[in-house]
Amino acid sequence: MSQRTFSIIKPDAVRKGYTAAILAELEKAGFKIVAIKRISISNAQAEGFYHVHSARPFFGSLTQFMSSGPIFPMVLEKDNAIADLRKLMGATNPANAEEGTIRKKFAGSIEENAIHGSDAEDTAAFEIGYFFAGLELA
Ligand code: TYD
Repeated sequence: MSQRTFSIIKPDAVRKGYTAAILAELEKAGFKIVAIKRISISNAQAEGFYHVHSARPFFGSLTQFMSSGPIFPMVLEKDNAIADLRKLMGATNPANAEEGTIRKKFAGSIEENAIHGSDAEDTAAFEIGYFFAGLELA
């Protein structure tokens, strides 16, 4: 069944000029790009997005990184989108990511790991609403 998920091309990948290559990987895998924009977020806005990680030791560094330059938040759609995107992204740490995954190809480290993808239906709903208004999602 068709499902929507939320993704971000992170600042490291944008800086390195990988945006178009990552979008091509997503389209090749059958994802429809329902909404996308280029924005920069503040540290406070990154903290709001990653609130579930607020007690983790890497939280400050992560939110600083996510607010360090432009990102491309997007809404993606396909059958089984949430699980399929997680598979296509690869492991959080690119050193452990399988061959052919986006993080294996484009990520530099466990923090600067090129792409975000929602991990469940409830987080996808929160994350889509955090970055996009209803009228952007027709
Ligand atoms: P997490 O939700 O565990 O990973 P994923 O992005 O694969 O769903 O963590 C969120 C982000 O936090 C992750 O993409 C990169 C960062 N992070 C670190 O910087 N260090 C760490 O040890 C972990 C686990 C995550």
